[in-house]
Amino acid sequence: MERIEAASLVLRVKSVRKLYGALEAIRNVSLDVATNEFVSILGPSGCGKSTLLMMVAGVVDKSAGEISINDAPVTGPRPDIGVVFQQPVLLPWRTVLDNVLFPIELLKASRAKYTERAMELLAMAKIHDFADHLPRQLSGGMRQRVSICRALIHDPGILLMDEPFSALDAITRDEMGVELSRIWQANRKTVLFVTHSIREAAFLSDRVIVMGRRPATIVEEVKIELPRPRDIALMESEPFNSYVRRLRKAIEASHAH
Ligand SMILES: Nc1ncnc2c1ncn2[C@@H]1O[C@H](COP(=O)(O)OP(=O)(O)OP(=O)(O)O)[C@@H](O)[C@H]1O
Ligand SMILES: [Mg+2]
Repeated sequence: MERIEAASLVLRVKSVRKLYGALEAIRNVSLDVATNEFVSILGPSGCGKSTLLMMVAGVVDKSAGEISINDAPVTGPRPDIGVVFQQPVLLPWRTVLDNVLFPIELLKASRAKYTERAMELLAMAKIHDFADHLPRQLSGGMRQRVSICRALIHDPGILLMDEPFSALDAITRDEMGVELSRIWQANRKTVLFVTHSIREAAFLSDRVIVMGRRPATIVEEVKIELPRPRDIALMESEPFNSYVRRLRKAIEASHAH
């Protein structure tokens, strides 16, 4: 496990365990994430990735261990963190634009000041034409894109994303990945990102964590030392594909684990 200097440590997960009744979802997970580091988590379906992310987000209680953000124990949701849940949770009575602006209201910031930014994000996600629509008028992938915009609106220092691109078509998915990489490059933040796409993880991350079957433990950790900024052409390169092969082997092993 990589050692991170105390001064640059943002997120600390230490010996965390999670039981849902008799079901042990997470056995013993420890993970440190440094300031502005982009860390992805890969692992078999049902191994406990969402559970881990939701505990970090402060919406699910842990059974044992410690989770802290900037040295403060996580005791509940924090408005200064951007979260994209696996199932987009939008407020059904609010328009797309009002859903994106919701964190601004929670933070009691000026709505007027952020409306332009909200429209920019919606344009980036190619759903600005639907700003006045209600969530039920959108497809699943469109809802997912709204929840990504909402997570980014207040430019949070920490971003937690649970398979944010899973409902998107292949082309949009790649485009959103490149956009996320660009946003991260321009305006550094600490990101914890769950995905099932090995290529997406390798493209976006500084470090990829591979989890084993439930109860989750970390079985492998790979530093992705590819130059930044990264563009889509990188995905054709041999160094990139050698990381992909290495991660694939680790995941195959994790299934057997
Ligand atoms: N609220 C809950 N109550 C009881 N069991 C739960 C609950 N949430 C998750 N689990 C169980 O915990 C385990 C881990 O679930 P989790 O959603 O964290 O997996 P995951 O790694 O995110 O899977 P996927 O890749 O399919 O999203 C599963 O066995 C699941 O059945
Ligand atoms: Mg999940």
